[in-house]
Amino acid sequence: MIKFTVKSLLSSTEYDKQVEVKGWVRSKRGSKEVAFLPINDGSTIHNIQVVVNLNSFPEELMKKINIGACVCIKGKLMQSQGKGQTVEVIAEDIEIYGAFNEEYPLQKQGQTLEYLRTIAHLRPRTNTFGAVFRVRHAMAYAIHKYFNDNGFYYLHTPIITGSDAEGAGQMFRVTTLDMLNPPKNEDGTINYKEDFFGKETNLTVSGQLEGELAALALSKIYTFGPTFRAENSNTPRHLAEFWMIEPEMAFYDVNDNMDLAEDFLKYLVQYALDNCKDDLDFLNNMYDKELLKKLNMVISGSFKRITYTDAIEVLKTSGKKFEFLPEWGSDLQKEHENFLVEKFGVPVMVTGYPKEIKAFYMKLNEDGKTVRGMDVLFPYVGEMIGGSQREENYETLVARMKEMHIPEHDMQWYLDTRRFGTAPHAGFGLGFERLILFMTGMTNIRDVIPFPRTPKNAEF
Ligand code: 4AD
Ligand code: MG
Repeated sequence: MIKFTVKSLLSSTEYDKQVEVKGWVRSKRGSKEVAFLPINDGSTIHNIQVVVNLNSFPEELMKKINIGACVCIKGKLMQSQGKGQTVEVIAEDIEIYGAFNEEYPLQKQGQTLEYLRTIAHLRPRTNTFGAVFRVRHAMAYAIHKYFNDNGFYYLHTPIITGSDAEGAGQMFRVTTLDMLNPPKNEDGTINYKEDFFGKETNLTVSGQLEGELAALALSKIYTFGPTFRAENSNTPRHLAEFWMIEPEMAFYDVNDNMDLAEDFLKYLVQYALDNCKDDLDFLNNMYDKELLKKLNMVISGSFKRITYTDAIEVLKTSGKKFEFLPEWGSDLQKEHENFLVEKFGVPVMVTGYPKEIKAFYMKLNEDGKTVRGMDVLFPYVGEMIGGSQREENYETLVARMKEMHIPEHDMQWYLDTRRFGTAPHAGFGLGFERLILFMTGMTNIRDVIPFPRTPKNAEF
């Protein structure tokens, strides 16, 4: 039996052909003689209309087919008389896979995204989440395709880690010790030597450090995996578990890094425009009337490149009243990022941050004050990418680690890359869910990952 998807049937012109449609009933209307059942199977945002001649089917059967029921319908594919569709299926045989008498939690329309979060196990059946998850899939595929086509190797970095060198946020501990009665050292601290790995371990906040090891062998690698941060940031842009893409390249400086980030993001936007048109049109109509305009803005011009020092100057002389006064030496706030992106009307890449506010591994500039960090700022999302050229000089790196109180003994493996055949290199991290936020026009990061993990929330 040929398997038909709703998507393939909708583009078929083989009229009068016997077909089989399997999917969920999205609504039910009609008259005494006929019922119209739009069926969706998630293969596309669009439904296929099934026409049921009520004289040919028992009333009992038809009563069971309500919104949300799952059915298998055999029938004939016909050119449609109705508006808004080219084909429909005239039902000849109906099998019910799943029907129910209770009230369906997904009523037809008008349910808030907040409510849908409480039924995240069912929300993929809505048009909205179908669209979002299809776009999410397309982006994951495009990311692998981009790197593969450009000579990068996909590297799997560990999820359980024994180092906390990133300083990128609080970590989640991984342990098999008895929490009520952990083994103790003489000074009363917990004896992690008796733990599963014989040391303290956590879930990783980033695959970068291991990524660097591989880049200094394979030249161009990328990671794409889950990362974990236990910071208590209850914002529409933070998750405790999120996916990150981290390319790392030997022989790249910070400018090469920016070129790659810009080319990569443009490729992804173009890919979505080329391959997710129906879903983007839907999201544009439903959630963000500017979505397509914003996506086109990304591909149509060059990103703005500006140093941190110049960005602070722009903010200071803007005449705008910020809640946090822009000051050289402090991190850019959300309101500052928004202002910059709005002012330039394109994504903004900021470089040359004060070393105090960035990670120890960023390459120090000649001025001794700033580092070759690079953040890419996007409308609404804010920081889409964070990255840098890395400090490849052994002595400078060790000095930076001392300054920032990073224990050297934990990091010998990392420092070895600088001892043996070091090389200039650079890389960045793209937050996958931040990308999907931008691509879909959704406003809360909880709505672009199937099962969000946030403070006090690990349901499903
Ligand atoms: O700027 P971050 O912390 O950089 C790193 O982790 C580097 N090791 C990356 C690298 O150079 N290889 O995080 C990178 C990106 C951010 O720009 C943001 O898009 C995303 O990860 N991100 C988060 N996304 C969702 N929820 C959170 N809590 C996030 N924290 C960071
Ligand atoms: Mg960052």
